[in-house]
Amino acid sequence: MNVQQNKAFEPQMYPVRSTFNIPEAPEKASILGLKAGLDGVPKEDPYYVFETDRLRDMTMFWIGGFKALLIEGDPSAGKTSLVKQWHAKLNVPLGTVACSPDTQQHQIFGMLVPTESGTLRWQDGPVTKACREGTSVLLDEYNILEPGQASALNLVLEGNSWTIPETGEVITPAATTRFFATQNSIDSAAAVTGRNVLDVANEDRFVYMAVDFLKPEQEIDLIVRSLVAGGVAINIAKQIAGLTVDIANQVRSAFRAGASAIEKPLSTRAVLRWAKLTAMYSPGLKQQKRSGLHYALSRALKMPTSMEQAVSEFITLSCGFDQNLNQAGGHP
Ligand SMILES: Nc1ncnc2c1ncn2[C@@H]1O[C@H](COP(=O)(O)OP(=O)(O)OP(=O)(O)O)[C@@H](O)[C@H]1O
Ligand SMILES: [Mg+2]
Repeated sequence: MNVQQNKAFEPQMYPVRSTFNIPEAPEKASILGLKAGLDGVPKEDPYYVFETDRLRDMTMFWIGGFKALLIEGDPSAGKTSLVKQWHAKLNVPLGTVACSPDTQQHQIFGMLVPTESGTLRWQDGPVTKACREGTSVLLDEYNILEPGQASALNLVLEGNSWTIPETGEVITPAATTRFFATQNSIDSAAAVTGRNVLDVANEDRFVYMAVDFLKPEQEIDLIVRSLVAGGVAINIAKQIAGLTVDIANQVRSAFRAGASAIEKPLSTRAVLRWAKLTAMYSPGLKQQKRSGLHYALSRALKMPTSMEQAVSEFITLSCGFDQNLNQAGGHP
């Protein structure tokens, strides 16, 4: 049988305030995680910001003894990264099922694989592994999963035992096994094609949480920190961060309102790239009477021409200068 690969699952308490950088958290609040050094723990993103409300929701889920959490939000709002960064901070391994309409049982639960000696050996899939270890599984883009496959998880999502048909082994999920499903909501203006409506029985097994983009001041702060770390002067960093975040939020609102040209919202990662490229391109382009903000946008992320034009217009309106710095007033 498959012996767990991770050596020791030693518990460790993590103080909320310092671990998640939430100064307003109670001084004595702490959360149970595992000692560092286990395989399968997501990599930490040094620029990741934990937003207080989301952190509270995650904490309640984690300490409340719940098994399954469904996280919904717009595309690129920060669903997957929240789950990953939470596990990175608590040093808890997180297996992932990248769901697609073709995802099959064996990619979720495991399968028999041939050995060198010509026999067959059972290999755990992410769900089975997490049940043995008492670790977590991320079911990413859950509502793309074919509903029948999602229903196969019903027993497990409640912490019940099940039998591996191929081996007859009965798996009982460890008490600390947790499931995280992320998805774009099906009823938002941002509904993405190809999403399935979860069957009610399956959906009923999840604690629910909505995730939104960072608040402007937090996103600005993140970008300023990153630009300054890269050697950009603080006043320039603040100016670029303020503009890019403001425009990104206009794009996000337009997307939600169903603006036809806006195919997708800008993620925090895309805004960060845009800000960095703006800082890099602006000095050289300024000599040529060209706008670094406009120029960097098309390099920061791939988008259809119609969307690029629409966002470019947002920039011009917000900054008061166009691609050729007409009506420029000393901006980047
Ligand atoms: N709170 C945050 N702090 C720092 N970066 C963030 C934050 N939230 C999101 N990001 C960044 O924005 C990008 C998009 O986030 P993520 O992949 O989590 O979005 P998603 O909601 O899962 O998107 P999709 O719907 O496309 O799966 C990532 O690179 C992520 O690191
Ligand atoms: Mg995601």
